[in-house]
Amino acid sequence: MNDSELRSLLSDLSLEEKIGQLTQLPGYFQDAGTITGPAGDMGLTQDDLRLAGSYLSIIGAEKLKKMQTEFMAQHPHHIPLLFMADIINGYRTVFPIPLAQACTFNPELIEESAATAAREAAASGIHVTFSPMADLVRDARWGRVMESAGEDPFLSGQVAAAMVRGYQGSDLNEHGRIASCLKHFAGYGAPEGGRDYNTVELSERTLREDYLPAYQAAVDAGCALVMTSFNTLNRIPSAANEWLLREVLRREMGFDGMIISDWNALQELLAHGIAQDQPEAAFLALRAGVDMDMVSPVYARNLRELVEQGKVPMQWIDESVWRVLTLKNRLGLFEHPFRDADEAAEKTLLLAEENRRMARRCAEQSFVLLRNEENLLPLSGGEAVFIGPYADNALLNGAWSIFADDLDTVSLKAALQRRPQTRNVSVIRGCTLSDPEHPVIGFQHPLPPEDLDAEAALAEAVQAAKAAEKVVLCLGEHRECSGEAASRGDLSLPRCQLRLLDAVAAVNPRIIVVLFTGRPLDIRPLSEKAGSILLCWLPGTEGGEAVLNTLLGENNPGGKLSMSFPYCTGQAPVHYNHLNTGRPWKLGILDGRFGSKYQDIPNDPLYPFGYGLSYTTFACSPVTLSSSCMTRSSSIHASVSVTNTGRRAGTETLQLYIRDLSGSVARPVRELKGFRRIFLAPGESRTVTFTITEEMLRFYTLSMDYASECGDFDVFIGSDSRTDNGARFTLTE
Ligand code: GLC
Repeated sequence: MNDSELRSLLSDLSLEEKIGQLTQLPGYFQDAGTITGPAGDMGLTQDDLRLAGSYLSIIGAEKLKKMQTEFMAQHPHHIPLLFMADIINGYRTVFPIPLAQACTFNPELIEESAATAAREAAASGIHVTFSPMADLVRDARWGRVMESAGEDPFLSGQVAAAMVRGYQGSDLNEHGRIASCLKHFAGYGAPEGGRDYNTVELSERTLREDYLPAYQAAVDAGCALVMTSFNTLNRIPSAANEWLLREVLRREMGFDGMIISDWNALQELLAHGIAQDQPEAAFLALRAGVDMDMVSPVYARNLRELVEQGKVPMQWIDESVWRVLTLKNRLGLFEHPFRDADEAAEKTLLLAEENRRMARRCAEQSFVLLRNEENLLPLSGGEAVFIGPYADNALLNGAWSIFADDLDTVSLKAALQRRPQTRNVSVIRGCTLSDPEHPVIGFQHPLPPEDLDAEAALAEAVQAAKAAEKVVLCLGEHRECSGEAASRGDLSLPRCQLRLLDAVAAVNPRIIVVLFTGRPLDIRPLSEKAGSILLCWLPGTEGGEAVLNTLLGENNPGGKLSMSFPYCTGQAPVHYNHLNTGRPWKLGILDGRFGSKYQDIPNDPLYPFGYGLSYTTFACSPVTLSSSCMTRSSSIHASVSVTNTGRRAGTETLQLYIRDLSGSVARPVRELKGFRRIFLAPGESRTVTFTITEEMLRFYTLSMDYASECGDFDVFIGSDSRTDNGARFTLTE
């Protein structure tokens, strides 16, 4: 449909039809077909279901084609529905959680993974995914860290943009593409205390400097929608924050797509205490610029009266309806309401071998080798016994893998049994995944208790460990312990697992821990008692295969931490790009009482952002600069030579950090400004050169201009955020 036809359609719609376009309901409401249960509780009417603009979380080519046909037939202007869903890290073929994908430092791979997810979801009739989640996160207590790209603005932006490109391609009308909804705008990842849905207090400078860049990268990549966040910013909930949505998002960041609220967020304006009632909530949200109301009755039940009372101008309604119709038109839904929904394609595409291969490759590149003393890894074959609650566990998908089937997942035990050299290794549970006295609260319900004779299981594990050459201890956090509404006040591993670790370490010191988790944890006990630690996050459908490929050395791990692992819970939030403070404290200086430090723990995290080992080793030469002076109109090159000094080929990710030594406001001790993955054969050397531009040196100055300031800068190039391999240059007018 061309614009004039679309304009004419808009002008033909009744007020009820327009308001219907601004409402999104859950698919199960339509399933019910009548107003029952939650729909009734929300005060919705049959008309609200009949005129809705979109349904979410309903999938399947056959079901959605039938629903679209019936819906359009009864709609007065036969307007097609938008079908949206949370395709966060894959659809049926599940990829590693986004926090793990970010550890690949490989935007091209992330883009390919998102494109694979889009093809599968499109075949099942989905039009829009609520991804990427580009919330910057520095506090591992917040459960949704698993769906973020971690603590760095630059890396988070690279990941978000790669996902948008993967989902949308260059044209939304392309076969196998879906629209991307950036979320949660803005600052949702910084709740006080790491507690989900809690208050966010950020200065405007910190918001702009650290939290907006990743969203900007997704907008620049062309995301078609943006979802507002639950939290307040400056004590105003995002869904009613006119400055945030109309000034910052639309005018400054240049977003011209559709804005959708998060689930029931308009109703929550009453709980926030900024709307007395639903009519006021509707007024505030529409004025702020929320186009579509996700699963709340606020627009559906109140906009008509507000328009009739003259409190809401029809122009606001028309603007929002126009953006909804424009998205439907960009997706080609008026001409092709079924779009890519295709039962036959579903059968061949979902979980296709090439998709599994992609998922395996992504998982392998997301693993981070945290320790490998005495080269306990890689294994040569069947010399190890596999012990722990993750040794034979197919729950390897992240909490948002809501359309996947765990039966499709390859567990570590299943992978072991596929190989002749490991088919007969012992796999022993050793303990439950969670402490019986702290059952895990699942996404919808408490999980059933794990049935195990704890003493017998521990004894069996000790017996096996005693007799084995090495022990692979498969530990971690239940996948339901991270994700939405999964904040935790203690980042320790379950006590039952720590007990297993102690018991095994008492009889066999050669321990390799494979760690499965949706967040950074307090893993001091692992660092004290295990010679090797391989962090595998929640690796998805091909997790078991990817882990075993890595343990056997077929994959040489090269992942780098997208988020610091805190020394302990009390150190959270912790991040590498912090300010220096007036009393920076490093061992040996100001080591009296009055430095910025704790009395009982170090300042540094246990493992820092950007850190990760390999089965080989790399050496990096000192940084050389093409010049020690740079003007605003020039650039300089910073180079190092990297050598693979080990006996295995491997991938190193070189990271470029810059420190502005003095500015009109305090500047971080360093900031990631670039990275380069390089694969080197044993003995091979390569020169890597980064170009430093004036744009890289810009920040929000005292006057809140985004500009660079003359002065001295340090540039560091190395294998993690602690590198001191640096050189100094000066920016002059
Ligand atoms: C949830 C989440 C959001 C998700 C939406 C739809 O509450 O906050 O990330 O996309 O609802 O499921």
